Amino acid sequence: MTPATSTSDHPTRAFGIDIGGSGIKGAPVDLVVGELSADRVRIPTPSPSTPAAVAATVAELVDSFDLPHDLPIGVTFPAVIQHGVARSAANVDDSWIGTDVTEVVASATGRVVHAYNDADAAGYAETLYGAARGHSGVVLVVTLGTGIGSALVVDGTLVPNTELGHLEIDGHDAESRAADSARERDDLDWAQWAKRLQRYFRVVEDLLWPDLIVVGGGVSKKHQNFLPLLDLRTPIVPAELRNAAGIVGAAALAARGTSLH
Ligand code: BGC
Repeated sequence: MTPATSTSDHPTRAFGIDIGGSGIKGAPVDLVVGELSADRVRIPTPSPSTPAAVAATVAELVDSFDLPHDLPIGVTFPAVIQHGVARSAANVDDSWIGTDVTEVVASATGRVVHAYNDADAAGYAETLYGAARGHSGVVLVVTLGTGIGSALVVDGTLVPNTELGHLEIDGHDAESRAADSARERDDLDWAQWAKRLQRYFRVVEDLLWPDLIVVGGGVSKKHQNFLPLLDLRTPIVPAELRNAAGIVGAAALAARGTSLH
């Protein structure tokens, strides 16, 4: 795929949609600056979150904007997305597994759609416009939320579907111990959670030797409470795009026509 640069021949506007377990959010994006160009619209994720129900909600969201028909549309999804097809399903209905996300959403909206893993989209946005902007080398973006998502970007090129939240560490699926949802579930204070993050990030840096780690997800706005407690050899910084990262990244990838083949 094309390395990430924000100055290029690609369209300067696109639409991004972030499909999550609790909400479906979308907005047009100004790709020159990497910002939403209108307020984002959020519709609760239907329950059950089957492909047909979610696609209908996405169509409702797209129709609530007056968009040119050829505007590129990028969709994020909390799952492995291989060539447009969901290969897993985190916090969405299992019937998504094996479903072509691009096809289902394209037929509901009548538009050309590209689909990406949620962390990949967020990581790409941070590379183009945020905390990893201008960084060469190996950048790892980790999102801490209900699960742990990861995006590996090497000299501006995204290596999709790294799924590093599912490393097995000390006999556990890593995200079940170190995600933000684990902090809440186990009622951990920041120091207790930071111990789990320390174990997680140490394993990750020993395996990948990244030049930079960027930490995203909603909790990254409280980064002062836990990032200073980590003792790593890799520089680790908070994400900058916060909850717009998925929308911006999906729009940027779609504008490049990236299918991550
Ligand atoms: C999923 C990933 C996703 C991450 C964040 C994990 O459980 O396996 O595909 O990126 O959660 O939503």
